[in-house]
Amino acid sequence: MEEVLVVKNLIKRFGGLIATDDVSFSVKRGECLGIIGPNGAGKTTLFSIISGFLKPDSGEIIFKGQNVTGMKPHKLVSLGMTRTFQLIKVFTHLTVKENLSIPSMAHSKNYEKVAEKIAKKIHLEEYLDTTATNLSHGDLKKLSIGIALATQPELILLDEPFAGLNPDEVVELDDIIDEMKKDRVTQIIIEHRLRELFNLADRVLVLNFGKLIFEGSPEEVVKDIKVVEAYLGTKGESNA
Ligand SMILES: Nc1ncnc2c1ncn2[C@@H]1O[C@H](COP(=O)(O)OP(=O)(O)O)[C@@H](O)[C@H]1O
Ligand SMILES: [Mg+2]
Repeated sequence: MEEVLVVKNLIKRFGGLIATDDVSFSVKRGECLGIIGPNGAGKTTLFSIISGFLKPDSGEIIFKGQNVTGMKPHKLVSLGMTRTFQLIKVFTHLTVKENLSIPSMAHSKNYEKVAEKIAKKIHLEEYLDTTATNLSHGDLKKLSIGIALATQPELILLDEPFAGLNPDEVVELDDIIDEMKKDRVTQIIIEHRLRELFNLADRVLVLNFGKLIFEGSPEEVVKDIKVVEAYLGTKGESNA
């Protein structure tokens, strides 16, 4: 199977802190890869580096066979890589339709049609003319995913998509992510809600203090002692 993304020996320091400590992994086309780890483990930093919002100190990012290290986010979007943010970013004073139109305006005359199609995919077709400020938290999260989908990504990076969703919204988001998978959109998902993630992920990476400490199936992850220790904080908090 073709590798869509290859990350090699990424290192990122913030002053004396190593936020990304020699991380390497790859993702195959159509795969759903989960990334977990305690707060501060470096998950979001890793996304920011891959998607061009931060430059790594060293290491390489290969996207569809091309070295894209240091490339700007908008360039990566045009190559087919898009991310969402942990804190939702939408145009609050614009409608759902307008929010979904913006990404395709530059390259499609049919941007309104595209927006309508995406609204359907994210189950917001009833709210096309609703201003984003009037949406619930769950609907805003769906909209942020829709904006990412409107760029027609081949690889989508989702940062905690399930955070703050109620059980009904979880089921809906499951459907949306499943549909993306059917469309062969490769997914990398950072998530704290492990049950929700493990339902979707083919494979899971575990980060702790910037390091990749485990890689395996969801079943393997829950059995691994290093992972359990990372979550219980029995390492790194020792007073010895
Ligand atoms: N822009 C930044 N400047 C300085 N330190 C940062 C910056 N972004 C993240 N960090 C630090 O890097 C570490 C990893 O953060 P982050 O990637 O947000 O972790 P996670 O998403 O796993 O919770 C944390 O210690 C955080 O405080
Ligand atoms: Mg984070």
